[in-house]
Amino acid sequence: SKSLKALAKPTGVRVGTAVDTAALADDATYAGAVSAQFNSVTPENVMKWEVVEPERGKLDFTEADKLVAFAKAHKQKVRGHTLVWHSQLPAWLTSGVEDGSIDKKQLRSILKQHIATEMGHFKGDIWAWDVVNEAFNDDGTLRDSLWLRELGPEYIADAFRWAHKADPKAILFYNDYNTEGIGPKSDAVYKLVKELRSEGVPIQGYGVQGHLSTEYGLPTDMQANLHRFAKLGLKTAVTEADVRITFSASDPATPAEVQAQSNGYSYMLQSCLLERSCISFTVWGFTDKYSWIPQVFPGEGQANLYDEDYQPKAAYETVQRDL
Ligand code: XIL
Repeated sequence: SKSLKALAKPTGVRVGTAVDTAALADDATYAGAVSAQFNSVTPENVMKWEVVEPERGKLDFTEADKLVAFAKAHKQKVRGHTLVWHSQLPAWLTSGVEDGSIDKKQLRSILKQHIATEMGHFKGDIWAWDVVNEAFNDDGTLRDSLWLRELGPEYIADAFRWAHKADPKAILFYNDYNTEGIGPKSDAVYKLVKELRSEGVPIQGYGVQGHLSTEYGLPTDMQANLHRFAKLGLKTAVTEADVRITFSASDPATPAEVQAQSNGYSYMLQSCLLERSCISFTVWGFTDKYSWIPQVFPGEGQANLYDEDYQPKAAYETVQRDL
C-alpha cells in the first residue's frame, strides 16, 4: 500500500512526525519508516534550549544538525521546535533567575540572543518555527511562567519580532495544546494574535498540538477554529497529534477505545485537509515503541499509528483512507 507521504503529496499538506534522534541513530526500522512515510520532521527534543545550550554560552547543535542533514537527504521539511517555552529550560537559566544572578534586563537580552543564535544557526533550513509554545492556561489566562513573571506579556511580541529578524523566510508559529477546537483557550490565543497582527507583529502560523485522549472525546469545531486564524492571515498546522488510551494488562484497550482513537486522528486530519490554510499534519512520534505518553501520563499510552512492533494499527489505516 502507498506511503503516507505519497498519499499526502497531491493534497498539498505535508505529513510529518516528531523524531527521537536516538532512535533514528540506533533503530534502522525506525529510520526507515521516518524516511518512507513522512515528508516533514520535527525534532522531539534536540532543538530545545536545555539541549542546545546545556552550559551558558556553550552551544551544542550536534544532534539537531544530524536531523537536519537526514531531512535534506530525504527531501523533508523541518519544523523547528521550540524557542520560547516554560519547560526544558537549561538549569543555568532557571537557577540564575531564581538566585537573582540573572536580572530581568539580562534575561530579556539572553532570550533575544537565544533566538538569534539558534535561528541563525539553522537559517534557511527550517520551514516553520514554533517560536512561542504553550503560553496560555486552559482558562485563557496567560501561563504563570518564568517569561511572564520576569518579562511581562510583552515577551510574546518581542519573541516574534526577534525571530523574524533572525530568519525572515521561516514561517513563525504560535503553538499550544487544548486549542484544536473553539473554547476559552483558543479564544484567548485568537484575541492575542489578532492584536499582534494589527500591531504588525510577524506571527504567521497557528499550530494546534493535537494531544487527544479517548477519555475526553473530540475537540469542538476544529475546522472553524483553524479558519478564524486563517482569516487573520495565518497558516495553520496540526503539530503534535497523538491519541492516548488508558489501559493496563488486566484492562486492555476496548474496541470502542480503538475506534475512538481512529476517530481522533481522522477528525484532526480531516479538519486540516478541509482548511486551506493548514500546511502540515504532524504526529508526535509514529510508534508506541518510543512514545512520550507513558512517562508523562502514567497508565496511558498506545497513542500512535503503529504499535511497538511497527505493526500499523487501525488509526494508521484511517489516516491512509483520509489522505
Ligand atoms: C515532550 C517530548 O515528547 C518528551 O520526550 C520530553 O521528555 C518532554 O517533551 N508539548 C510539546 C512537546 O510542545 O515539546 C512535548 O514533547 C510534548 C508536549
